[in-house]
Amino acid sequence: MSKKRLGVLTSGGDCPGLNAVLRAIFCSSEELGWEVLGFRDGYEGMLADGGDYMVLNRTNTSGIMQVGGTILGTTNKGHFTSKVGPGEKASLPEEVISKAAKTCRELDLSAIIAIGGDGSMSTALQLYRAGFPMIGVPKTIDNDLEATAMTFGFDSAVACVTDALDRLHTTAASHKRVIILQVMGRHAGWIALWGGIAGAADIILIPEIPFSLEKVAEEVKRRDEAGFKSTMIVVAEGARTQHGQQFRKQSASGEWRLGGIGEMLGQEIEARTGKETRVCVLGHLQRGGDPTTLDRILGIRFGVKAVELVRQEKFGTMVSYQNYDVCDVPIADAVHRLKKVAPSCQLVQTARAVGTSFGD
Ligand code: F6P
Repeated sequence: MSKKRLGVLTSGGDCPGLNAVLRAIFCSSEELGWEVLGFRDGYEGMLADGGDYMVLNRTNTSGIMQVGGTILGTTNKGHFTSKVGPGEKASLPEEVISKAAKTCRELDLSAIIAIGGDGSMSTALQLYRAGFPMIGVPKTIDNDLEATAMTFGFDSAVACVTDALDRLHTTAASHKRVIILQVMGRHAGWIALWGGIAGAADIILIPEIPFSLEKVAEEVKRRDEAGFKSTMIVVAEGARTQHGQQFRKQSASGEWRLGGIGEMLGQEIEARTGKETRVCVLGHLQRGGDPTTLDRILGIRFGVKAVELVRQEKFGTMVSYQNYDVCDVPIADAVHRLKKVAPSCQLVQTARAVGTSFGD
């Protein structure tokens, strides 16, 4: 086997498990006698003159598996943003592609392993089509990437939601309040659904099942009359009403982001039911902290598989988790649409069977 030099990068929002993948990529490359360069701050590291990277070695990859975030840094902005919203795509500028290609040539890279979500895989696909030897590794807390049953980072985010609900239940019950927990997930309801079920939420609101404010208020009143004095609601940041309304907030820099649905819901429920209501926005706690056992194992398996795909020169493919196995799929299969919760799927039915309302 000839000696190879690989590039690796972490791109998009960070999540627990990224360092586990990096460590696995280094360790299994080392077994093959290959060298690994880690680009800093996602694809941006390919644009600096000569490339902005660190050589992965035993010292900088030891003890990192159990640590959240990414030792390489990342960004969900910058020159390589190729997906700006659901279904929206932007082509990479020609000068960006040629600058990155120059870096790869100068560094004599045999492959680039891009670890990222939906937007980062769209970028990887564009680069692959422009002639780059790309391999994708799927990550996102949102679990909204097609062609893989699960991404690492999701289980850790769900564990955070579950823990938050466990804590909120005790205070909600003591004060006989309604508490709303707003969680992340963009346009998919996976985090809200899994976290809501595991944390025994009474009402779960997700983008895939538009809700009615009347129905939510009726459910709160029904529970009150039935003797359940507190009600726990999990709402996904991208949940929408039956009128199709989604909530966004503008940041100081002028960027529009999903947000504000928890606040709106809190005011409406208090006004419609007279029940004291509090809102908790879980935010980036869901992205931080240590990876769960499952995310560590997935991370290691994904990293090892990515190196195997480089060895087989299966460029343009993405590591994928299917039926408890790690396999590969064309990157193109992962990015043509978002993976969403099917409103009638078994998990939704299971939640309904134990009395959970979806506000519909
Ligand atoms: O895609 C991951 C995610 O955490 C979403 O759930 C959330 O909407 C978004 O990223 C937040 O992005 P930022 O870190 O830019 O605030």
